[in-house]
Amino acid sequence: MAEKISVLISEEAVAERIHEMAVQISRDYEGRQIHMICVLKGGVFFMTELSKHVEVPCSLDFMAVSSYGDSTVSSGIVKIQKDLDESIEGKDVLVVEDIVDSGRTLSWLLKALQQRKPNSLKLCTLLDKPDRRRFDITVDYTGFEVPDVFVVGYGLDYQQRYRNLPYIGAVEI
Ligand code: IMP
Ligand code: MG
Repeated sequence: MAEKISVLISEEAVAERIHEMAVQISRDYEGRQIHMICVLKGGVFFMTELSKHVEVPCSLDFMAVSSYGDSTVSSGIVKIQKDLDESIEGKDVLVVEDIVDSGRTLSWLLKALQQRKPNSLKLCTLLDKPDRRRFDITVDYTGFEVPDVFVVGYGLDYQQRYRNLPYIGAVEI
């Protein structure tokens, strides 16, 4: 059944904000190389767009973790589905996420990555739902704060659909 999706953040606004974030990140990492880690699958659209506009040397790796099943409610379980290909020891790591909701996934992931001894570890998210935060984590770069609604598009899914929408939409469930 098709859900009703309303536009929350337009394609143009998303593109413009990601460009701004890339400028800021390029400034902050001047003279260094960024090792971006995309959290699959949701972070992939954001990381590709962000990395295209970053002006410092950049390498990319991918990781898949899950805390949600095919549901809009967190199961509370975090699992590594796919680990990184490369070591992050000594690297300036930037984790690129689609959305920080309760913060459960990221608080777990950041601790796990910190144990692998990166030179630095920062977090960049396209969207943040601060009202839903239950785990204390530091978000270094945020694209947009969104209200507590279920959002899709630009990598975010509802039951694995809508990731390919070029804008951020709200699902009317
Ligand atoms: P957290 O661990 O509660 O912060 O949830 C993080 C993950 O839940 C995100 O990386 C998303 O994959 C998923 N998620 C949370 N809120 C939404 C939403 O509104 N739409 C789609 N996925 C969401
Ligand atoms: Mg995610």
